Amino acid sequence: MARRKKIYEGKAKILYEGPEPGTLVQYFKDDATAFNAQKKEVVDGKGVLNNRLSEFFMTGLNNIGVPTHFIKRLNMREQLVRSCEIIPLEVVVRNVAAGSLSKRLGIEEGTVLTRPIVEYYYKDDKLGDPMVTEEHIAAFGWASQQDMDDILSLALRVNDFMSGVMMAVGIRLVDFKIEIGRLYDGDYQRLIVADEISPDSCRLWDAESGQKLDKDVFRRDLGDLADAYTEVARRLGVMPKNSQPITKPTLIN
Ligand SMILES: Nc1ncnc2c1ncn2[C@@H]1O[C@H](COP(=O)(O)OP(=O)(O)O)[C@@H](O)[C@H]1O
Ligand SMILES: [Mg+2]
Repeated sequence: MARRKKIYEGKAKILYEGPEPGTLVQYFKDDATAFNAQKKEVVDGKGVLNNRLSEFFMTGLNNIGVPTHFIKRLNMREQLVRSCEIIPLEVVVRNVAAGSLSKRLGIEEGTVLTRPIVEYYYKDDKLGDPMVTEEHIAAFGWASQQDMDDILSLALRVNDFMSGVMMAVGIRLVDFKIEIGRLYDGDYQRLIVADEISPDSCRLWDAESGQKLDKDVFRRDLGDLADAYTEVARRLGVMPKNSQPITKPTLIN
């Protein structure tokens, strides 16, 4: 068997060289991290769930004309994606106050925002992903004004799509983070949604009870993370019905 070339190993995923130029294989690990990797744990089955959920959301976005890096799922833990140049920003869209917004500005968690708030964070683990403004982004050349217009439009389209999909299964999309990549096409470049969209990168609250169904379960020790993600997948009809709960790999005779 030929050894695959590992391009990058991050906190939650591994990128391998893909089968064709311009492609990558994205492998979803079971590692859960929070607070810039100060808190770490292995959550059995998380990678399988996030691979499926990210496939589901990215496919939906591709279908409504929001371009993403997703090409196809390869197996339980891997998907084939278009390789792109990641813009070093975490783009956050908020519909309801929570997390750092509540903390920084003293807005009570759960306060519904009168309009979505889009925030940008500079993607740098060493610096703890500091928040930046469009001024910083322009001054340091991370993205052009045209890019920023496109990023805002992509972020809001993803928000509309995700909010609708989640509300239909009784889940409130509180906020989420996306990463955007550049694809070069001759003299042109276009921006696409890259990385992942999963309960690791969204805040999801049950619409009735307010129960958290996202990575806050891990951040705040609120219960079993895999159970929460399984519930999201179940409601969306993403995991096959009656499938066994995902546990450690087992030998099947
Ligand atoms: N289509 C893509 N092309 C190139 N890089 C990508 C693509 N999608 C995601 N990435 C990058 O791959 C890495 C995914 O691994 P992850 O474990 O999330 O890393 P990190 O610890 O940096 O968040 C991220 O750095 C992300 O920016
Ligand atoms: Mg990441």
